[in-house]
Amino acid sequence: MTFRALFEHSSLGIIISNEEGTILKTNPYASKIFGYDEGELLGKEVEVLIPPKLRDRHVTYRHDYIKDPKPRAMGSSLNLQAVKKDGSAFPVEVSLTFFRADGMLQIVSFVNDITERKRAETALLRLTEDLESKVNERTKELSDALRELSLTNQGLNQEMAQRKKVEAQIRGMLEKEKELNELKSRFVSMASHEFRTPLGGILSSAALIAKYPKTEDEPKREKHVQNIKKSVRNLTNILNDFLSLDKLEQGKVASTPVQFNFTRLVDDLAEEFRDTSAKHVIEVLHQGPELAMFQDKEMLRNLVTNLVSNALKYSPEGSTVTIRTAARGGDIVLEVEDRGIGIPPEDQKHLFERFFRAKNVTNVQGTGLGLNIVKRYLDLLGGRIEFKSEPNQGTTFTVTLPSEKK
Ligand SMILES: Nc1ncnc2c1ncn2[C@@H]1O[C@H](COP(=O)(O)OP(=O)(O)OP(=O)(O)O)[C@@H](O)[C@H]1O
Ligand SMILES: [Mg+2]
Repeated sequence: MTFRALFEHSSLGIIISNEEGTILKTNPYASKIFGYDEGELLGKEVEVLIPPKLRDRHVTYRHDYIKDPKPRAMGSSLNLQAVKKDGSAFPVEVSLTFFRADGMLQIVSFVNDITERKRAETALLRLTEDLESKVNERTKELSDALRELSLTNQGLNQEMAQRKKVEAQIRGMLEKEKELNELKSRFVSMASHEFRTPLGGILSSAALIAKYPKTEDEPKREKHVQNIKKSVRNLTNILNDFLSLDKLEQGKVASTPVQFNFTRLVDDLAEEFRDTSAKHVIEVLHQGPELAMFQDKEMLRNLVTNLVSNALKYSPEGSTVTIRTAARGGDIVLEVEDRGIGIPPEDQKHLFERFFRAKNVTNVQGTGLGLNIVKRYLDLLGGRIEFKSEPNQGTTFTVTLPSEKK
């Protein structure tokens, strides 16, 4: 009785068939899930419950099972399909077992309709897929945004680089402009001083000459004429400096090497200085034999004159200026040493610039061109110049240049 109730009320379809596959018995739930009336399936082939295209294969399975029947659990992973009376297919799980009655094999199929579960599964799958595609979408959006960001970044970097370049250019231009302005103001202060003094001297001498018309005034007149001549020479010298610097700058000057005795040139120049400026002791020390040189003689004369006249100009009367010459390797070394006012340390780095004058020489005449010209000569001759200076102790300039122009 209990078993009967179990059969009648089971929520699992139960179908009993014989060896031939004919349905012998179904419980109400089986009829219900397959869409048949109660008892309507009896006497039909089990294959009516199988989708048409699988029926042949099912017959084979059935025969195999009969040969070696054993209980078989529900196979959920098999993806089995069954058909209803109306032909619609639905997913099932089937487990099989068997028994014998009156020597006949009877096969019991338990059929579980898993439509709902499949639907839930599908829904879950779709949800997962949905979720996945959403994640993908977001990831893509994110990576797009990142790419865009990096592009923007690149653009920004480029812009920064461009800006820096322009900035550097502008700074360079400003620097040039500043330099030029500096040069201009140095020139103006030099010119106003250097031109005005001799011109003023000329003017006053001329005025004084006019005051001495008599013959016996001749010595006085002569003194003023000499003054005028000196001032004019001064101005001429400055203009010559300008001109030679201009030529040097335009690269119009080439050195013309000649063979000469450098030792003798230095001696001669020292003698000239002694004649014109008796206020210093000029000492010349040659080391080793006389120095033969194959270089531009005029440039060297100019160079030595510039250095010695500086040494005299910037050292007190009565002090000694020492000129040394020596040979070192293929080079000739010239040293000019004074015991003068020296060069303030902060001014030293500008010394070879045009029109530059240190701040401790404002009461001494000069254009600030001499050393610039010397430096340019040395560039042409392949030599170099260095100096050591100690304020109020003295300065030593050292020139090193090849004895032969290559
Ligand atoms: N022997 C020195 N002792 C001290 N200062 C010096 C000496 N030689 C050069 N200087 C400094 O270097 C500056 C530049 O010298 P540079 O010979 O170029 O010009 P300058 O002597 O002023 O004028 P000039 O064009 O008439 O020679 C000088 O104004 C001076 O300040
Ligand atoms: Mg000078």
